[in-house]
Parts: sequence; structure tokens; C-alpha cells
Amino acid sequence: MKNSDALVLGIETSCDETAVGIVSGRKLLANVISSSVEEHARFGGVVPEIASRAHLEAMPNVIKQALSEARVSIEDIDAFAVTAGPGLIGALLVGTSSASGLALAMDKPLYGVNHLSAHIAVDSLNSDHELNPAIALLVSGGHSSILQVNDLTSDVITLGSTIDDAAGEAFDKIARILELGFPGGPAIDLDAKSGNPNAIEFPRGLTLARDLVEHKYDFSFSGLKTAVSRYLAKTPEYIRADVSASFQEAVVEVLLLKAIAAAKEVGIDTLIIAGGVAANSRLRALAQERADKAGIQLRIPPMNLCTDNGAMVAAIGSLAVAKGLRPSELGFEANSSSGITRPIF
Ligand code: KG4
Ligand code: ZN
Repeated sequence: MKNSDALVLGIETSCDETAVGIVSGRKLLANVISSSVEEHARFGGVVPEIASRAHLEAMPNVIKQALSEARVSIEDIDAFAVTAGPGLIGALLVGTSSASGLALAMDKPLYGVNHLSAHIAVDSLNSDHELNPAIALLVSGGHSSILQVNDLTSDVITLGSTIDDAAGEAFDKIARILELGFPGGPAIDLDAKSGNPNAIEFPRGLTLARDLVEHKYDFSFSGLKTAVSRYLAKTPEYIRADVSASFQEAVVEVLLLKAIAAAKEVGIDTLIIAGGVAANSRLRALAQERADKAGIQLRIPPMNLCTDNGAMVAAIGSLAVAKGLRPSELGFEANSSSGITRPIF
């Protein structure tokens, strides 16, 4: 067996999804997800303690289902990978403990991996294009950045990040104000379909000439949130779908403006969009238009692989195995706030 065909099982538990993916090299064999999102919905956000317990309950079955979907047995697995951070620490520990137990029992290598790197690595599945180099727009519930990915497992440069809320967080907060429920991204995406994106002119954060001097590739969404709240307060007869669509347009415009500018300026003609917000239908459509216009090759994972999943963890584990990287020491520490410059623990 070539290292590049290794069977890797990946476990993801950083937030509210208990997820297991299995890959053979770059081929996706199984992707099973059990979400505790409904248990958190009435609190309007993920409750860490509830998430950890849900992971413990779901884990055995999710692993079994993934093995069955991939038609392999646990003895066939060549290496294990698990999200070691960033994420909710109690939730992460359920994943790292489960993965460590499996690796120890099966006497196989284990890779503790970075959740953010994993979001990008999923782009390598089921295709044979080169992953590196690329500019990555990474937009999730906790992070929003523009990255220069020279080599995903060893050389990633952060060109810019959000200076306040993450893009997904902005969707979640506005959805709460509009009483659209949690998580807010998919709800606003749907609501916006019947709205007019040009109905209300909301601010495009950090795009003025003076902002660009210091914050060329940074994002800010807190001013947008304030602008939406103000608009609602002074417009009692507001049309919700128009607010959703106009808010979404403001976020998507800024994300793409800066990501495409970065690709052009750095001189890398591939743009990968990854993370939960990459599931947004307007972002996907406008990204294609803008990338075509700029002569940039655009890659966005299939929608079900944008939000948290186990396939992405297996994908980065598989890249590590193929490159012959050293596995993590058993007992490595999960880290709730680790940055993308630490892809493998
Ligand atoms: O990557 P992810 O699943 O978890 C984190 O690592 O944070 O991202 C979750 C975020 C949430 O804020 C959610 O509202 C957002 O991604 N999201 C979306 C869409 N689907 C999920 N945002 C906009 N449009 C969507 N269709
Ligand atoms: Zn994520």
C-alpha cells in the first residue's frame, strides 16, 4: 500500500457535531454526522456542557456507522486523526480521548489536527488537483480570515482576520434579532431568497480608503450588526426578507472583495472558500462570478463538507500521512484557541 492510499478515520467534536469521516488517500468513503443542535436551539447558542455529553452519547454509534458506510472494519484503519483545537474544550476532549483510545488499542498512529486547517483540507477530497498554493477565505462561526496557503501542513500565512465578530457569528446574531432561530446562517440564506439585496444600503466594514491602510485584508462585522439593529428600530414596518438579503449582501461583498484582491496581489490564482459560511448560496454564486471575472480558479467544497464534519479531519490526517509527517504523541493536549499556524499537534 502506498502511503497516499492510507485508510484514515477522522473524528470531529469541536462544537455541536459528533462526526466521523473515513478516507482512502483522497477518496471519501464515509461521512457520518450526529448533531446536538436541537438541544441548544432554545438557548440561542451552543451550550458547552450539553455538547460534551451529547458527544459522549453519540460517539460509539457514529464510529460504527462510518465503518459500515465505508465497508471497512476498525482493524483496516491505518491511522486516526482528531480535531485537537480550536473549539470548546470539553467537547474537544471527548474527541481526543476517543481517538487516543482507538489508536492505542489498534496500535496505529494518531494525528491531533487543527480544525481550521481541516476545513481547507477537505478541498483535497475526491479530486486530484494540487491543494497548494492557494489563497483561502476561511469563514466559520468562530473565525474569518484570508490565508496564503503555501503548504497547508507547514506554511500558512495569515493575511487578514476579523477584528471583531466572525462572519458566521454575524449571521447568527442577526438571525437572533430577526427571530429566525439558531443557527442563523442557513435561516438567513433561506429568508434572503425572497428578499431584495439592494433594498437597504448597509455598511461594508473596513473598505474605506483610510481603513485599507491598516486593515487591507481584515474584516469587521460589528458595525454592520449595529446598522441592522438601528434600521429595525427606526423602521417598524420593515420587510424581513429584504433585511436578510441586504445584510447577507453586505457580508458576502466584503468577503469576496478582499479575498479576490488578496489573490491578485499575492499572485496566486486559486481561491478556496472554506468553513460553515462557505455553504451560503449567495456567497457561492457571487464568488463564481467574481472569480471568473478576475481569472481566478475558484474551489468551494460541496455544501455538506463546508459545515463541521469528520471527512475534513480525515482529509488533513491523510495529507499528513502522505507527507510522512510524524504522528502526535499520545496524550497531546487539546487547545481551545489554537491558530492555523499549528496544523498538526
Ligand atoms: O464551520 P462551522 O460549521 O463551525 C465552526 O467551525 O464555527 O460554521 C458554523 C457557522 C455558523 O455561524 C452558521 O450560521 C454558519 O456557519 N453557516 C452559514 C450557512 N450555513 C452555516 N452562514 C451563512 N449561510 C449558510 N448557508
Ligand atoms: Zn468549523
